[in-house]
Amino acid sequence: MGLSLSARARGIAPSPTLSMDSKTKAMVSRGQDVINLSVGEPDFDTPPEASLAAVGAIAAGFTKYTAVAGILELRQAICRKLEQENGLRYEPDQILVSVGAKHSLFNIMLTLVDPGDEVIIPAPYWVTYPEQVRLAGGVPVIVQTDESTGFKMTPDQLRRVLGPKTKAVILNSPGNPTGAVYRREELAALAEVLRPSECYIISDEIYEKLIYDVEHVSIAALDESLFEKTLVVNGFSKAFSMTGWRLGYTAGPRNVIKAMTSLQSQSTSNPASVAQKAGVAALDHFNPAVVEEFRARRDYVLNRLRKMPNVTCAQPDGAFYVFPNVSGLLGARYRDVRMETTDQLCEILLEEARISLVPGTGFGAPNNIRLSYATSRVNLEIALDRLEEFLSQVRQ
Ligand SMILES: Cc1ncc(COP(=O)(O)O)c(C=O)c1O
Repeated sequence: MGLSLSARARGIAPSPTLSMDSKTKAMVSRGQDVINLSVGEPDFDTPPEASLAAVGAIAAGFTKYTAVAGILELRQAICRKLEQENGLRYEPDQILVSVGAKHSLFNIMLTLVDPGDEVIIPAPYWVTYPEQVRLAGGVPVIVQTDESTGFKMTPDQLRRVLGPKTKAVILNSPGNPTGAVYRREELAALAEVLRPSECYIISDEIYEKLIYDVEHVSIAALDESLFEKTLVVNGFSKAFSMTGWRLGYTAGPRNVIKAMTSLQSQSTSNPASVAQKAGVAALDHFNPAVVEEFRARRDYVLNRLRKMPNVTCAQPDGAFYVFPNVSGLLGARYRDVRMETTDQLCEILLEEARISLVPGTGFGAPNNIRLSYATSRVNLEIALDRLEEFLSQVRQ
């Protein structure tokens, strides 16, 4: 036996987005001129009102344990937000505030999933979903989507995989890495399939505010039967640029939230008291100018990418990523190197073109790469110039 790690720990795949990010940061700290388009966080500041609320909380000595599920003031504010913005009526005992939405999702998986249970995940997916399902002993059931359906799962696809072992279905709209947004009628069509089945819906809505010209709809708002089986996950990282504060939440059926709260009481306890005060203030201070800026960047990036050889790119309607298909480049050569996979392509792009992008492999989309436009327009322009120059030297 010896000093071995658990099978669980040995089986975890580290987050490829975070590892690309740290590789890039290491290059930058060595003085190398790399443009980082691999990040999953907005480049604007936390709303000052939120930061000031946190400073005030520290000054007032609000620095002790709080209720495990989060302070009542914050859970009430979240209930107001969900009712006003999403048409969802919850009581504070249906809300659990956690240490980021990633933690909310982890609590959900450990609370719902028994070994052998299946969780349906449409691909391309956020890298964390299948790993968390596996950590809970569950089986991720991947539904492959592509550009032909706008990277959205169809009711037929869902029907084919839904079965007696299905414990939950994950929906992520707007989605990471594709930026795909499910329209109301698309959700209604999926709901037709889900309504009769005994499975939960996990609706990750963390990018809901970063959406361009289309409406965000929560599947939980479609009708009472869906409301009762949905866990709505949201957080402060993306809309309020509060990635470092670590604050996210789940809203859902009382019994599930109660069990998740017990789980949290034996792991992290409450999220940081000070961050919670910041969260209360943030909810009233979303800055819509951010959406306009992201939209302008998305349009700029799309426009440039669509002019590049062997690159095609679907238009994302939300989040801050584009997810170009680069299958036309696979098998081609840059200098002496043949690029067989998007992993290799991203590695060469980092070393030779000094731009950091994330290969689609970790997202279940080996023909695509993810480009985050959560960086300045100047950086985007330089990065796309470099990409263009790189592509001009690629030979089939
Ligand atoms: C789809 C999606 N869900 C959840 C999260 C988690 O965010 P956080 O844990 O910072 O709240 C992220 C972050 O990248 C994400 O992309």
